[in-house]
Amino acid sequence: MRGGAQSHLMRCADDNYYVVKFKNNPQHRRVLVNELLGTRLAARLGLPTVPVAIVEVSEELIRLTPELAMELPRSRIPCQSGPQFGSRYPGDPRQLTLHDFLPDEQLGEVEDLHTFAGMLVFDKWTCNTNGRQTVFFKEKQEDAVHYETRMIDQGFCFNAGEWNFPDAPLRGLYARNRVYQGVTGMESFAPWIERLEKGVTERVLDEVSLEIPPAWYEDDYDALLRLLEQLHRRRPRVPDLILEAKRTNRQPFPNWM
Ligand SMILES: Nc1ncnc2c1ncn2[C@@H]1O[C@H](COP(=O)(O)OP(=O)(O)OP(=O)(O)O)[C@@H](O)[C@H]1O
Ligand SMILES: [Mg+2]
Repeated sequence: MRGGAQSHLMRCADDNYYVVKFKNNPQHRRVLVNELLGTRLAARLGLPTVPVAIVEVSEELIRLTPELAMELPRSRIPCQSGPQFGSRYPGDPRQLTLHDFLPDEQLGEVEDLHTFAGMLVFDKWTCNTNGRQTVFFKEKQEDAVHYETRMIDQGFCFNAGEWNFPDAPLRGLYARNRVYQGVTGMESFAPWIERLEKGVTERVLDEVSLEIPPAWYEDDYDALLRLLEQLHRRRPRVPDLILEAKRTNRQPFPNWM
């Protein structure tokens, strides 16, 4: 796949296709932690994510598949074996066409467009230092055709490998203001903020963290605990972070009253 992490599209034992990020990707090993933790938490908030999984890739498969390699500036090294992060392709890649972007006109036909407000709550909370990324695909229901979106790429949440939170007003916003057309004020974010404050307890964070293969954070459990603690503490900051975005020259929320 394109992108800085050089992911690979793989068919897995459950017969689904996954976009797999490897431990030795050129971005950072912790990107795998961010993806699993981030996507699980986004799903908790009720955001449209894709199912994610820990994909076990054997040494033998890598040895027999020359394509399973990372292209570095001056060399090519094989992917590492063991548990990797998989983000499920939302259908059969031979049949379902995905779009990374839609023109503004088609964005109006996206059924779950209001979830972009929820994604901003998530991205402000986790300090996603990459712009929000989603995929779009067409859905046919009876005679009507509309688009749906799924949020992907949580790799740069918590500032990628840094695991700190350098908040900035424009961070986390989606590239097109059109997706925020339904935002009329803080009340448009309120349901998501409430889920964040009530639903993401210390226990939930603990539960999710237990699932992460320790090799993804190089057995540095203290660093993981510090990350979870900061996440828990940051929850009440989200409304202010959204207000800071609102006040920028970009004016991301044209219908805020
Ligand atoms: N679950 C998925 N289903 C379908 N396609 C996906 C999925 N996840 C990722 N992709 C595709 O793979 C590409 C790379 O994925 P992703 O953006 O997560 O990787 P990345 O290497 O971190 O990219 P970036 O350079 O943006 O940091 C995406 O642009 C998208 O088209
Ligand atoms: Mg990406």
